[in-house]
Amino acid sequence: PAGAAAPLPEQAAPLPTARPAGRPFDPPEELARLRGQRPLSRLAFPDGHVGWLATGHALVRAVLADPRFSARQDLMHNPLPSPMNEWPFPPAPPGMFINMDAPDHTRYRRLLTGAFTVRRMRRLTARVEEVAAEHLDAMERRGPSADLVEAYAQPIPALLICELLGVPYADRASFQRQATTLNDHDATPEEVSAAYTGIYTYLGELVPAKRAAPTDDLLSELTAADLTDEELTNIGLLLLGAGLDTTANMIALGTFALLHHPGAFAALSAGPGIADTAVEELLRYLSIPHTGVRVALEDVELGGRPVKAGESVAISVLAANRDPAKFPDPDILDLRRNASGHVAFGHGIHQCLGQQLARVEMRVAFPALAARFPALRLAVAPEDVPLRTDSDIYGVRRLPVAWDGGDR
Ligand code: HEM
Repeated sequence: PAGAAAPLPEQAAPLPTARPAGRPFDPPEELARLRGQRPLSRLAFPDGHVGWLATGHALVRAVLADPRFSARQDLMHNPLPSPMNEWPFPPAPPGMFINMDAPDHTRYRRLLTGAFTVRRMRRLTARVEEVAAEHLDAMERRGPSADLVEAYAQPIPALLICELLGVPYADRASFQRQATTLNDHDATPEEVSAAYTGIYTYLGELVPAKRAAPTDDLLSELTAADLTDEELTNIGLLLLGAGLDTTANMIALGTFALLHHPGAFAALSAGPGIADTAVEELLRYLSIPHTGVRVALEDVELGGRPVKAGESVAISVLAANRDPAKFPDPDILDLRRNASGHVAFGHGIHQCLGQQLARVEMRVAFPALAARFPALRLAVAPEDVPLRTDSDIYGVRRLPVAWDGGDR
């Protein structure tokens, strides 16, 4: 109406990332405040773009399930500060389907889903058990203290990716070393870049080798599909990129959380069943892939607000998984809670392809650790555990642990 003051424009603030002091498992408090106001807020992206931040659980799922929102990296703005934040990003290379929309995504996804067979999963499960036991043996031999990240959390997913891709045994140590360097915050940019080139070159040679002499693994099986060597190399890189750092941080940060909550670590040995709900709850509670992003392909009304074509919507997985409208007492870690519906594996067409494997790894890794070292404890004060606050995957850089009187 004439004369009425126009409402002040909502201030677009940057994404809050600082964890509350002394509470490394809890989201930045500002996220809860924003979610309490409305499920969609304005957000200032580091490159200057003004877009949106989705914090409500229902709204996050709605965006992820909506084909009017794109996962194309050449359209999206990154909500997280990063040295590689030059906009626009190049389009996804052939095979990198996590950054593609339907129908390009559909074709790859279908081929990959078909290759994750029950038989393959059963074999991988048996391998997870062996790999976990071998690394617990090694910890015991070298003990009574260890960095759990290096000794346990990283090798399990790294070796399972090797298994999945069919990396020959002779190459595994160097493959594992390079793969770990990719996510090593203490490595120099040159070291990370050299590791990336090493892995890419290696996968680029592995693909034709599998084509020439297929073995019993996923990569060999995919050589029978209508895919180029470049596509297969990038699929290999995607599986490694999506499956290693995530699972490793879930195992390490998950162990930290279990040790931090009285009785939680011991409860894992309480019998069958608990590991399954505990893993889902840890996925929800920790929400390590804390923030995603989508881009509106057309004007969309979202949560009653007008999102314009081309605007990026940051997806706060962390806020959604702590939404009290979905999970009662969301800030409590309850290993017996029904946490289904959490979005730690995403939602919609890009929902994690490797979630079955990731679940198996965690369902084995936590109870096996608790059974072997029932008296496991942190070897440093909780506030001295170095956190990955600046990474798109949250977690710990190191987790010094000790048992049987050992200290580090
Ligand atoms: C996608 C989380 C383990 C392979 C995703 C997405 C999330 C996620 C949130 C969706 C990304 C998006 O919507 O943009 C996790 C977590 C893991 C895990 C928390 C461990 C606890 C794995 C493993 C593999 C894997 C072990 C493979 C061996 C993939 C692939 C995609 C994906 C290929 C892309 C799927 C697509 O675009 O259709 N993951 N992941 N992930 N994940 Fe995982």
